[in-house]
Amino acid sequence: MCGIIGYIGSKKASSVMLDSLRKLEYRGYDSVGMAVFDKELRARKGIGRVDLVNDRLDFQELKGNVGIAHTRWATHGGVTDDNSHPHFDCTGKVVIVHNGIIENFLELKDQLKRLGHGFKSDTDSEVVAHLIEKYLDLGNTFYDSVIKSVGELKGSFALLALYAGEPDKIIAVRKDSPLVIGVGEGENFIASDVPAFLKHSRKAVFLKNHDVAVITKDAISIYNLETCREEVKQIQRIDWNVEQAEKTGFPHFMLKEIFEQPTTLRQALNQNMQKLNNTLREIKQARRVYFIAAGTSYHASMIGKQLLARKGIGSECVIASEYKNIINMVDDDTVVVAISQSGETADLIEAVRESKKNGAKVFSIINGPGSTLTRISDDTIYIYAGPEIGVASTKAFTGQLAVLYLMAMPELKDELITLSNKLEEMLKKEGLIRRIAEKIRNANDVYFLGKGLNYPTALEAALKLKEISYIHAEGMPAGELKHGTLALIEKGVPVMVFAPKNEFFHETISGAQEVKARGGYLIGFGDEKHEVFDEFLKVPKTLPELYPLIFTIIFQLLSYYTSILRGNNPDFPRNLAKSVTVK
Ligand code: AGP
Repeated sequence: MCGIIGYIGSKKASSVMLDSLRKLEYRGYDSVGMAVFDKELRARKGIGRVDLVNDRLDFQELKGNVGIAHTRWATHGGVTDDNSHPHFDCTGKVVIVHNGIIENFLELKDQLKRLGHGFKSDTDSEVVAHLIEKYLDLGNTFYDSVIKSVGELKGSFALLALYAGEPDKIIAVRKDSPLVIGVGEGENFIASDVPAFLKHSRKAVFLKNHDVAVITKDAISIYNLETCREEVKQIQRIDWNVEQAEKTGFPHFMLKEIFEQPTTLRQALNQNMQKLNNTLREIKQARRVYFIAAGTSYHASMIGKQLLARKGIGSECVIASEYKNIINMVDDDTVVVAISQSGETADLIEAVRESKKNGAKVFSIINGPGSTLTRISDDTIYIYAGPEIGVASTKAFTGQLAVLYLMAMPELKDELITLSNKLEEMLKKEGLIRRIAEKIRNANDVYFLGKGLNYPTALEAALKLKEISYIHAEGMPAGELKHGTLALIEKGVPVMVFAPKNEFFHETISGAQEVKARGGYLIGFGDEKHEVFDEFLKVPKTLPELYPLIFTIIFQLLSYYTSILRGNNPDFPRNLAKSVTVK
């Protein structure tokens, strides 16, 4: 997820866009750049957050009244100055910024290289500038060149393009990644999101999929890419304040990020399968395999361990701060899989550094591009979830699971892709889940039970609930209760049970019956109700292995609403930081 902004009007474009980029940093911040037309196209770009790069490059030295700009969340191509946007064609007369993933960029790049095009970056985005150049060279107008170029692209993209030969317009294209026009008086804005222009205009036109817009300072024309017919512009009034706009209307980043998961799951599944297969092969060949992670990422690793075991591959999960217990076992025949949303968790960084000193090969599964963990790992698999602002990890967890499923069980890819629709179905149960939150809001203790892959699910559910509602919560295997914790169950204690109709169903139910006999208040989640439950939330059927992804929506929303009911701010829970960068 990146932030893009274009401006055309009578103000200094660089000043307007610099301010807009700051408002879009929540969409990505590993590098930033802008291009402005003033007799010719000039650009400045570099790695780092907006203000850091601006301190170095002084964007406002760029003169001119039309420009495009970009703040990046790296997907294809590392975090480098050359990979920063904007990207030019060979002539310097065409410049673009892009948000999304161009799946067929390698073949397009090869074709363009054979036509003599030279590339400066290893991003997917740069091919678009050269495609536009190719069609301009064939005598097409700027508009037709953009249309023909986009016709060759596969994947998702929000694109802005400028051409020095027709500098009175910005052309924008939307396919899957968002774009919205801010309608001004004698000026217009085009951005990934409303916060970028809200201080200038509350009139917005949200581009639909397959829309292409031609934007001048006085006019906006929108066409459908498929029919080529002009569309009626639907101007909407935006009543959000800037802070609400950054959450696209959600009251908290955490809720926004929970609702992003159908999209971010699809993004996480957009992987180079060859790379995943190579990683799995290295894991298979190693004498020892250690997952190392903390918190939510550790729970994801526990699911990864079980998935590998189903393929006959042994591994161990190690809590990052406890790595010293096994470090003497780590050698040059060891593979470490480090999982981290931020890529900056101090305990994990130290564990990885020590593992590498012992000769281990380190693969990391990360959300944050350009992170420390990326730099010290032998290879990195990104989950492409975009910045996760809420302290409680949500979309990163499902993104990590998606990568682990895809790596261990690539045969599930089709079901995983359709699963994003089932996550949408689960999100529609928000009201039912909020009612369950009302039942547990005053509890002192809550327990989560699950078996197999839903044991780590239960642990993650407990972490989510306690870290933002401050209710003590514990997750455990459904068969473990009778070995001690059952002593704590008394009348009315809420016990939540993940009970899909899989191979563990009957054992899970017998664990629930032990609770029932002691007066516990049983809330069940599964695809088939059982009379042991006092409350039951039915979930859509899926493959037995994939229920953790379905259940995750439940406990994330449950935790969120319990936190709200207890008067907490779910985005900023007490005592906690988003990334624990100190030991
Ligand atoms: C998750 O909700 C917590 N905020 C926390 O446990 C987090 O998962 C942990 O600190 C690890 O962070 P990382 O994934 O960025 O390494």
